Amino acid sequence: MDFKTYIAEAISNVTNIDKEEIKTYIEIPKIEANGDFAFPCFRLAKELKQSPINIANNIKDNIIVDNNIISKIDVVNGFLNFYIAKSCLAKETIMKFDSQKEEYGKSEIGEGKTVIVEYSSPNIAKPFHIGHLKTTIIGNSLYKLYKFLGFKTIGINHLGDYGTQFAKLIEGYKRWGEEYDFSTDAIDKLADIYKRINALCEEDENVLEECRATFKKLEDGDKYCTELWNKFKDLSIEEFNKIYDLLGIKFDSIKGEAFYSDKMQEVIDLLEKSGKLIESQGAKVVDLENQGINTPCIIQKANGSSIYATRDLAAILYRARTYDFDKCLYVVGEEQSLHFKQVFAVAKYLGLDEKYTNGLEHVSYGMIRLPEGKMSSRKGNFVKVKDLIDEAISKSKEIIKDRDIENKDLIAKQVGVGAVIFEDLAESRTKNQVFDLKEALNFNGETGPYIQYMTVRTKSVLEKAGYLPKVEELNFEKITDDSSIKLLKLIDNFNSILLDAMQKNEPSIISRYLIDVSETFSTFYNNNKILCDDKEAQDARLYITYMTKVILTNGLGILGIEVPEKM
Ligand code: ARG
Repeated sequence: MDFKTYIAEAISNVTNIDKEEIKTYIEIPKIEANGDFAFPCFRLAKELKQSPINIANNIKDNIIVDNNIISKIDVVNGFLNFYIAKSCLAKETIMKFDSQKEEYGKSEIGEGKTVIVEYSSPNIAKPFHIGHLKTTIIGNSLYKLYKFLGFKTIGINHLGDYGTQFAKLIEGYKRWGEEYDFSTDAIDKLADIYKRINALCEEDENVLEECRATFKKLEDGDKYCTELWNKFKDLSIEEFNKIYDLLGIKFDSIKGEAFYSDKMQEVIDLLEKSGKLIESQGAKVVDLENQGINTPCIIQKANGSSIYATRDLAAILYRARTYDFDKCLYVVGEEQSLHFKQVFAVAKYLGLDEKYTNGLEHVSYGMIRLPEGKMSSRKGNFVKVKDLIDEAISKSKEIIKDRDIENKDLIAKQVGVGAVIFEDLAESRTKNQVFDLKEALNFNGETGPYIQYMTVRTKSVLEKAGYLPKVEELNFEKITDDSSIKLLKLIDNFNSILLDAMQKNEPSIISRYLIDVSETFSTFYNNNKILCDDKEAQDARLYITYMTKVILTNGLGILGIEVPEKM
C-alpha cells in the first residue's frame, strides 16, 4: 500500500479537494517524533478561506481512517501529523521486499534504454594519478547503478593515446630506449624518456623538427612508428590493468583518441556543411557566442592538425551510430568543464538527432589531493595510485592480523580496496577533497570497512540462527521498537535512493544511505536480542536482519565494494 495516497484520499474526502493536489503537499517530517507523514494545512487556507488551525482541526475531527493503518493523528501549528501503525508499516515493507528478495531495489526504469559511461581515460605513458582514480571509481559505480536499474550500459575507457608527445617519445626511445628495462615500472621509465627528450627539444630546435616529422609519420601510419606507439600503449595498459584488477574494474570498450584519427574529416565536413565552421587566423573554429559560450571551439589548427575536441566530436558520431545511446556520461574532472561545454555545443551542428545531443552530460568532480605528510610531500600528488591501494591493503592486514579468521590476505584486499573506493564516493562528487587513507580505514568511522563489518555481522547472525523464517509466518505485531521501525523505513526507501542517485549521477547518495542503514542496524542489534526465547520475535528480527544484509550487499555492490566472508 502507498501510505501517502491513502492519507491523501482520506483528506480529500473531508475537504473535497482533489486527492492528487493533496498528495503533492504531503511531506515526510524531518523530525521523527512528528510522525511519518505531515500535511501542511496552510496550503489550503486560500482555497478554503479558513485559517490553517481551523482546517487542521476540522480534518482531524472528521477524517475517517482505519486505526490498523493510521494509529494516531496530531495537530501541531497548523500541521496534521500522521503516524502509521507500526505493525502495518512493518507488514507493508516486508511484503514489498519479499516480492523481490535478493533482487530488492532493482527496477525496470531503464528497460530499452542505453547508457554509455565513459570513465577512467588515463593518458598512456603518463602516470595514473589520484584524479584518474576518482573518475575510475565514480564511473564504475554509475555503470553498476544504471545496470542495476535495468539500463543497457556500456563502459568506455577513452585512453589519451594521441598527440605530439608520442612522437617525442618515439624520438627519445630511438636514442635511449636500450638503457631501460621495461619489465617493471614501465610508465615511470617512459616518463623519464619523455622528460629527457623534452629537455633536448628545448636545447636543440633540430630535434624538435625531427619530432614534428615523426608525428607526421605516425599519423601517416609508418610501420616503425606505429609499432613503437603500440608498444608504449601495451606497456601502459599493462600497468593500468594492475590497478583495474585490484579494483575489480572492467570496461566494455577500450578505445583511445587515436581510434578517431581517421574519423575526424567527417566532423569537419559536417560542420562545413552546417555553415558554422569559420576561418580565424588560419584555424577553423566554431563560434558559440549564440549558445552563451564566449570561447570559440577550435576544430582544426592553422597547421592542419586536429585537436582534443575534434576527436571528442568524432567519438560522439561513432557512439551514436554504434550504440544508439540515450545518455552518454563523461566522468571527467571539473577542470575540463569548458571543453565539454564547447564539445556539446558544437555537437548540435553535426546534424545528429536531438536524442543524442540532449543525452550528453559531463559528470564532473572536484579536485582531489593527499593530506600533507609522508605520502604527499615526498612524491607530490603523483604518488602512485597502485602504491596507495597497496598501502591500504597492507594497513588492513595489520588491523585484522590478530583476528581469528581464515583467508586474511583476501579479506585484507577486500577491506583495503573497499576503504579506498568508499573514501572516493563518500562525499558529493563536486566537492574538493583531501584523500585521507587513515580516516578511510577507520573501522568505526563512516567508512567502507564499517559498512562491510555491519554486513558481515548480518551474515553471521543469520548463520548462527541457521534458518530463514518464512514471511507468511511472521507476526508483525512483534515489530515495535523504534530502531526496527527506523530500519524498515530506510529499507523501504532503497529504490528511491537509487533513483535519486541516478538522476543526479551522484553515488554519494548511496554511500550516505548505506552509512545510515549500517548505523541503524547497529542500534537495532544492540537494542534487540535477535536470537531469543520468543520465537515470533526472533523470526521477525531475523527477517529484518536478512533484509538489511540484502540492502547492504546490493548497495556496496553498486559502489563496487565486495563483502568479505568474515572480518
Ligand atoms: N585523457 C584525459 C585526461 O587524462 C581525459 C579524457 C576525458 N574524456 C574525453 N572524452 N575527453 O585528462
